[in-house]
Amino acid sequence: MHLICQTEDVPEREARGFETPVGELIVTQRDGSFYAYKNICPHLQVSLEYMEDQFLDMDKEYIICSTHGALFNVEDGECIWGPCQGDALTKVDLEIHSDGGIYLKD
Ligand code: FES
Repeated sequence: MHLICQTEDVPEREARGFETPVGELIVTQRDGSFYAYKNICPHLQVSLEYMEDQFLDMDKEYIICSTHGALFNVEDGECIWGPCQGDALTKVDLEIHSDGGIYLKD
């Protein structure tokens, strides 16, 4: 089981990037739940951010791809606007342990 980070490393309505054994991931928190996706846009298979840890739109409502502005739901990764509308980010399952660690689910 791989430790990605601690829950306090990803504040509510923030997102952070992490290198893991399954590739680079985005981890974000919304309403107390944590979500992780591979940092690969389904449009052109590029990384989403233009600056370190810049994964959310200005209102911090959606995950955004910096290349063409596609917007993705935080909760399920579905693209709701942009050139890959209807496609989705690849979700990665997490486990939150009582030690405060966010782990990759085996
Ligand atoms: S590469 Fe992400 S929207 Fe085009």
